[in-house]
Amino acid sequence: MTDRKSIIAPSVLAADFSDISRAVELVENAGAEWIHLDVMDGGFVPPITFGAQMIAAIRKRTDLILDAHLMTLNPGNHLESFVKAGADRFTFHIEAEVHAHRLLGEIRKNGLKAGIAIVPSTPVSVLNEILGMVDQVLVMTVNPGWGGQSMIMQTLEKVRTLKQLRDDGAGDFLICIDGGFAEDTSGTVWEAGVDAAVMGSAFFNAGNPGEAARKCRPD
Ligand code: DX5
Ligand code: ZN
Repeated sequence: MTDRKSIIAPSVLAADFSDISRAVELVENAGAEWIHLDVMDGGFVPPITFGAQMIAAIRKRTDLILDAHLMTLNPGNHLESFVKAGADRFTFHIEAEVHAHRLLGEIRKNGLKAGIAIVPSTPVSVLNEILGMVDQVLVMTVNPGWGGQSMIMQTLEKVRTLKQLRDDGAGDFLICIDGGFAEDTSGTVWEAGVDAAVMGSAFFNAGNPGEAARKCRPD
């Protein structure tokens, strides 16, 4: 059984890109378990963020778990460079990859944890055939592309469904959410059964990110 705890994964998307070392330090000092890396290609979503080069730079600075979230078309094209860059977890969107089964196998073959993500309009049922081969399911709680949006609360229903499926033996995966996680939504999030929550603007825009993260921990 995977070790399930309430993981907080600050997303550097909301950090000051001119001082990425400081961003990593803030995450470490906050006692967060993962760093979430939002990779956008200007195709799957309109914005472009960063890729393997940035991940390699962050890898040099920390031993924290690097959780890459690919909001890109053809995510498999990036696997090799992300492995070399030192990513630990590789999550891609089912909406962007016809051959998800094959890619999940390749990710694991490379020694990384394999994750699958779904946007708010995608139902959990599309994952039925692959739940047994994923290490994490990332439920987008906002439409991907931008930080700082409000959580779409009804997406948490998918977390409850996934939890039930896992209890029924569908797989052994972490349930993660991404978007709009903050002090006011955290209680509902943990209660729904989330194992890992991405925290972007509510972390990096806080005067004291460590305290902001602490306030979002479950009671
Ligand atoms: C959205 C990204 C999120 C985003 C979360 O496309 O995948 O990780 O950075 O940011 P907040 O926490 O500000 O909603
Ligand atoms: Zn993300």
